[in-house]
Amino acid sequence: MCTKGNLVLAGFVASVLILAVAASGCITTGTSKEKVLVVGTSADFPPFEYKDPSTGNITGFDMDLIKMVAQKAGYDRVEIKDMDFDSLIPALQTGKVDVVIAGMTITPKREQVVDFSAPYWKADQAVVVRKNSDIRVSSPDDLKGKVIGVEKGTTGALYVKNKLGNSVTMKEYNGYVAALQALLNGQVDVLVLDSPVANMFTSRYNVKVIYTIQTNEHYGIAVRKGNKELLNKINKALNEIMNSPDWNKLVAKYFGG
Ligand code: ARG
Repeated sequence: MCTKGNLVLAGFVASVLILAVAASGCITTGTSKEKVLVVGTSADFPPFEYKDPSTGNITGFDMDLIKMVAQKAGYDRVEIKDMDFDSLIPALQTGKVDVVIAGMTITPKREQVVDFSAPYWKADQAVVVRKNSDIRVSSPDDLKGKVIGVEKGTTGALYVKNKLGNSVTMKEYNGYVAALQALLNGQVDVLVLDSPVANMFTSRYNVKVIYTIQTNEHYGIAVRKGNKELLNKINKALNEIMNSPDWNKLVAKYFGG
């Protein structure tokens, strides 16, 4: 039988136990001790990041690369967050993700708000049309009067806006799946997008690359502005990987050869 005194004692013992557990940090599960790198991407950009058609899992060159980088930098695993391309930098700034890897071009404007790793890939902008299209482009001026599809917030979109302005009609899409659909449906005449991805599309869909605009872009991994500690770790890991046989294996896996 419980007396009032015993109950008070039991309550006291219980609170001490709870406090002890909380103080030791053991109240959380063992797995929360894992070091997780939260990665933002926009998985519509094959072969860098895309959803595997059979499993729906996000895969690609960038995904393998960031896993290798994270491992070298002392992380136990990565957690991938997929979002629209133009949400990536805001997600980094607000702390929703620790890094962004998304075939993202290092630009002076972006460098004002985030920090980039050393470059790991090069790209230009390609002009893509339907395979049966008779559109010809031998200089960017030939795009005048065209309806051009781009992905929102990309360097392709910026190029069209800044260099072609009102001489064209630009349609912005949240992702290349929708942009490609618009091209195939005839809602746009051409797409302007990164050359490595355009080349990948030509092998999978009824489209062709008819012109390349030499924009000389370099992809980098982005971290929050001033996050030197993480940036240094990423650069060190990236440098090791790019100078090891793993790099050629990774390139061969996603680009063939
Ligand atoms: N390189 C271009 C840019 O930085 C396009 C990147 C698009 N990436 C993507 N995962 N959708 O603007």
